[in-house]
Amino acid sequence: MGTIVRGSGFAVGEHLVKNEALANVCETSDQWIRERSGIEQRYYVKDGTTTSDLGARAGKLAMEQAGISPSEIDYVVFATMTPDYQFPGCGVLVQSKLGLGNVPSLDIRQQCTGFIYGLQVADALLRAGQAKRLLLIGAEVHSGYMPWRDFGMVFGTTSARPTAEEYAFNTRFRDRTVLFGDAAGAVVLERSDDPERGLLSVSLHSDGSFAEKLYVPSGFAWRPYVSESMVREGRHIPEMDGRSVFRMAVTKMPEIVREILAKNGRTLDDVKLLIAHQANLRINEAVQKSLGLPDDRVYNNIQKFGNTTAATIPIAYDECRRAGRIAPGDLVCFVGLGAGFHWGAALLRE
Ligand code: ACO
Repeated sequence: MGTIVRGSGFAVGEHLVKNEALANVCETSDQWIRERSGIEQRYYVKDGTTTSDLGARAGKLAMEQAGISPSEIDYVVFATMTPDYQFPGCGVLVQSKLGLGNVPSLDIRQQCTGFIYGLQVADALLRAGQAKRLLLIGAEVHSGYMPWRDFGMVFGTTSARPTAEEYAFNTRFRDRTVLFGDAAGAVVLERSDDPERGLLSVSLHSDGSFAEKLYVPSGFAWRPYVSESMVREGRHIPEMDGRSVFRMAVTKMPEIVREILAKNGRTLDDVKLLIAHQANLRINEAVQKSLGLPDDRVYNNIQKFGNTTAATIPIAYDECRRAGRIAPGDLVCFVGLGAGFHWGAALLRE
């Protein structure tokens, strides 16, 4: 008995935003962004599209691929760090948007490791008989914390330009803002009797002493939890010690891949494809090098989407399945590290 993937799908924001467009709103360049991160473009939602909208679109595609109707889903697990509201979470919004019936819906918030944590939660629910067929979604709308006043300046729909003061403010956050995009990925998971297929294992870790290396310094620790001065100071925008994140990622990701393989009596030779969280192409190149994997056994798509946090892994996975890069029986390894810090890996026999 194993937890298998019946279907997968993904959705992106409506606007394609190339690196050059970001140079309209802050001091940056296509060359800097490509060289430091590998990113060439990302998508932002149009005004009014939310994380739960993107999640519902990805979920619908996953259900279509699985050939099932909404009434056959009996649980929703939704991973995001950018929910539509402070509360309720996005799981219940997707339950309603997809017309799933009154099934349980659960939100989890492990940022870039959200999808991998979600796999463990889903697997446990399915094994315990609490669910038979579950929708796991990772989705983000990061553009909500971009500091630009008028998104037309990056969508190319206005001739307006930032004032000198706005440009300087936007530039303060450029090391982070250029990295992120809006998207969602989803999978339909279910129990199977096939002994040759399914999720073999999930390994997870966390270390909260690093919480302030990557976080949004506003929330319910303040009274009131939102104020004009917070927005003026940019405390709704993530703080990031980029070098610290980089260092942890290139150390912990190879370490946990080796850990999960050893735990399951496998070696790197058994892994057909490594799908790592897409935070920075340079991080993933370092992980690949550390593990000694050839190019045809890793997959990166950050060039097209930027960092979409909880959505990166299910999007990359869906692309690989649809492109025929994963065949039944192949061993796929997922790995990620993100804010918290949380990090983890999963092994899936397709
Ligand atoms: N455009 C142009 N110049 C820039 C930009 C930009 N967008 N951002 C920073 N710079 C400048 C800096 O001001 C600095 O200039 P200086 O030398 O004159 O002081 C110079 O470029 C180098 O800046 P660093 O921050 O030292 O650049 P670094 O090589 O460390 O790269 C980066 C920065 C890309 C952010 C890198 O540290 C990184 O990718 N870290 C990991 C980020 C990450 O994985 N985040 C995960 C978030 S996901 C999650 O869990 C939510």
